Amino acid sequence: MKKLVIIGNWKMNKNLHETQEFLSDFEKEYLNNKRKINKKIEFGIAAPFTNLFLLKDKIFKSVAQNFSNFDSGAYTGEVSASMLKDLGVSMVVLGHSERRQYFNETNEVVNKKTLQAIKENITPIVCVGETLEEYEAGQTKDVIAKQLKESLAGVEDFSKVIIAYEPVWAIGTGKTATAEIAQDICSFIRENTSKKVVIQYGGSVSPSNIEELMSQKDINGALVGGASLKADSFIKLLTLNK
Ligand code: 13P
Repeated sequence: MKKLVIIGNWKMNKNLHETQEFLSDFEKEYLNNKRKINKKIEFGIAAPFTNLFLLKDKIFKSVAQNFSNFDSGAYTGEVSASMLKDLGVSMVVLGHSERRQYFNETNEVVNKKTLQAIKENITPIVCVGETLEEYEAGQTKDVIAKQLKESLAGVEDFSKVIIAYEPVWAIGTGKTATAEIAQDICSFIRENTSKKVVIQYGGSVSPSNIEELMSQKDINGALVGGASLKADSFIKLLTLNK
């Protein structure tokens, strides 16, 4: 089996107590299902900043959902890469469509953060994806090409980044892109970047569709929202629903 990177994106969910509960459920489920989880699957959880310290030294990667493109200083409310590294964070989700939509994150900002992540040795998971309107107007590839060009400007070594294709119309809607659509766009992303880049699909991934999506040639993992919030469902993603 090819290597897969499956990351749960918790978004703004779970307080401390709920995170502790998840971790204790997850440990039990993991031990019960360990045989079914392929060693080539790398997995992690992108938790809110306040819970990241609980994920340190666990069996999965600790992932941040955002960070500052500045090193340190007078940037009230921001969290830096080095602060996250202290907590054992090794990856960061950047340019998620919710950040682009609600917090005005542009390709330019995503690009600064991507380069900061590479400089700090944190793997950026750079999200791209078209809106429903753009999808229906047949503009998907133009939109993705622009997001890739601008968000990844200056990236030289594509083994240091992960790209997540998340069609906005498939996020939290229960509407997954068909495996064919997801494969077509992920292959387009590969052609426009590098053969060696890890490409995830995200958008209503669940235990029932993960196996088909992950078997596509150019899909190397998943970025999962809702289905990563419960330990039993997250484990089913890791066993590819076996
Ligand atoms: P859902 O899996 O809930 O559709 O969310 C996808 C997502 O936004 C992951 O980053």
